[in-house]
Amino acid sequence: MNQRKRWSGRAFVSLNMMLSFVVLILSSVVLYIMPPGRDAYWTQWRFWGLDKDQWDAVHTVGGFAFLIFGILHLFVYNWKTFWNYVVSKLRKTMNRKVEVALAVVLNVLLVVVCVADWFPSSTIMGWMTSIKASWVGPGQRAPYGHAEAETLETLALRSNIDLEAALKGLAEQGLTIDPTKTIQYLASQNGRTPAEFFELLAPYARTPQGGKSAALGIGEGAAKPGVQQGGGWGRRTVADIAREAGLEVKAALEKLKAAGIEAKGDSTLRDLSGKSGRTPTEIATIIRD
Ligand code: HEM
Repeated sequence: MNQRKRWSGRAFVSLNMMLSFVVLILSSVVLYIMPPGRDAYWTQWRFWGLDKDQWDAVHTVGGFAFLIFGILHLFVYNWKTFWNYVVSKLRKTMNRKVEVALAVVLNVLLVVVCVADWFPSSTIMGWMTSIKASWVGPGQRAPYGHAEAETLETLALRSNIDLEAALKGLAEQGLTIDPTKTIQYLASQNGRTPAEFFELLAPYARTPQGGKSAALGIGEGAAKPGVQQGGGWGRRTVADIAREAGLEVKAALEKLKAAGIEAKGDSTLRDLSGKSGRTPTEIATIIRD
């Protein structure tokens, strides 16, 4: 006769720990490549059907679940075994003074390398920034953070768009737009992402001189389109920006040299900013201009 097995809390906790670890690792990879919030909300970015907020929640709650099941696994079900193991291993390990010292030094060094932004931390974090930035093209970037949550009136003011002309032009295209409503609302009402809706406004952007620009910047004294302020440029390298702008690295270095900035292909804009006193956005603009 097949007897029903007794419920095992230990097996239940172990399985949950394992599954929440899988969720945690999977969501960690997605968070590593996910675009920054500003671009994710602007382009309504999704991965496997989930948006940025959903992946954030899966990762954070998955992380807490893993910690809770891990604590239960250790302290409730395995503490005695674990402690005996640790004590016996510790006795043996203490005879391995060189290995212990090296392990401690290595881990302290790891933290120092991260804080000082040295290799390999700088490279790992640089890859993250590049991958995150690669989801959206220059024309699709949000003019500033949370622009989708602003009304069209405010966005027009901040991005130096001729609102009257824009409303007239959009009405001619059959779009009825209430400028007191948010960009997110207007975009979804017209079956577009905020980025696509913003593109409709491009012909109505004023240049700083008061004329019209074919593409959107961010108004008076604005950076070039695609080189908006605060776009996470600091970690990006000259070679990276050059590639994106369709330039040879050599040509980018020459442009920087002409502007009085000595650089190498792998120099980050943050390093160059520290040396030249210019912002990373300005340096990116020099390369792209
Ligand atoms: C295997 C271990 C883990 C890895 C590899 C990992 C990796 C990451 C990565 C790559 C990010 C995104 C960083 C960025 O965009 O700048 C992140 C964010 C975050 N992680 Fe983890 N993580 C791990 C464990 C955990 C755990 C255990 C928790 C919680 C208990 C946690 C909570 C968070 C939170 C709250 C954020 C910020 C999310 C947000 O942007 O809203 N992580 N993690």
